[in-house]
Amino acid sequence: MYILGLESSCDETSAAVVRMEGGKREICSNIVASQIDVHRLYGGVVPEIASRAHIEAISKITYEALEVAGITLSDVGAIGVTAFPGLIGALLVGVNFAKSLAYANGIPLVAVNHIKGHVSAALLSDAELEPPFLALVVSGGHTSIYKVDSYTDFEEIGSTRDDAVGESFDKVGRVIGMPYPGGAALDKLAYEGDKKAISLPSPAIIGDNLDFSFSGLKTAALNYINMAGQKGEEINRADLAASYTYAVTKAISKKIALALDRTGMKTLVMAGGVAANSHLRKAVGDVCISKKVRFVCPPMNLCGDNAAMIAAAAYYEFERGNFADTSLNASATE
Ligand code: KG4
Ligand code: ZN
Repeated sequence: MYILGLESSCDETSAAVVRMEGGKREICSNIVASQIDVHRLYGGVVPEIASRAHIEAISKITYEALEVAGITLSDVGAIGVTAFPGLIGALLVGVNFAKSLAYANGIPLVAVNHIKGHVSAALLSDAELEPPFLALVVSGGHTSIYKVDSYTDFEEIGSTRDDAVGESFDKVGRVIGMPYPGGAALDKLAYEGDKKAISLPSPAIIGDNLDFSFSGLKTAALNYINMAGQKGEEINRADLAASYTYAVTKAISKKIALALDRTGMKTLVMAGGVAANSHLRKAVGDVCISKKVRFVCPPMNLCGDNAAMIAAAAYYEFERGNFADTSLNASATE
């Protein structure tokens, strides 16, 4: 069956068509209209601007997604839309549009959890992948570890207690003059620096837990930059990028190793925008090699926000009979 996916939780408006049939998972179209250029002027996402930009783009890209897939609405078996978590005004645009489209065309509607969507990106990129597995979701808004028992049953077994890893990358990037979002730029810059040059606190919370705190690491980096500024000293931005990235990858690798030991899972999925980070892919990949665990990480174009992953997640909710009706509302939180 064909599923139309819609995503508008943050600063990307996306519509996609996926075809799920007899174990086959095919992306027929995946249109992403990024608002990054607009938000870059402000150094971060401005929620109201995001909502307005979604309103302008959503109808056009939906019809583009159908056209690229070579289908019409009458071929669509279900519409899946991100209903939570995210920026509330941004989510409401997608949810309201999806409700109208579903109601007007008599198509079943499915509400999708954005986080489950990120994990489902791995199902699209790896035809062999099946639950149970362990999933690490690292993005601009989330840093969590899940035990995925079935396509729809996710148990959070660890998470950040404050900032998300991507948010902290973006903040440090902004302070050292990188354009928003700073994550990808820091990834590149880190290759030019010395990862041991600056000593930074670990974001892995001490003890037998699977939790993180990125706010302390972020504050330590900002203090380092401010102190250098007060002394009139130039900081070595590459050393900071390398040291910061090292602190992040080391902490995540440590908690992932613990999570694999604790759950005995033989497959690890890493998803979300920060899963595009090359240092993290290598570090987490190495943990999996050492533990003889299969490592599945979607390609770059499926790591960031996109509607194909939402459509895939919607399919599994649909199979479970988890439909939404016209009373569906969006929620900023999970
Ligand atoms: O999943 P996503 O598109 O949106 C959320 O659901 O939050 O993730 C966006 C985040 C941003 O913080 C961005 O800086 C980060 O992903 N990101 C990266 C890289 N590419 C994107 N962070 C580190 N290294 C990268 N290569
Ligand atoms: Zn996301």
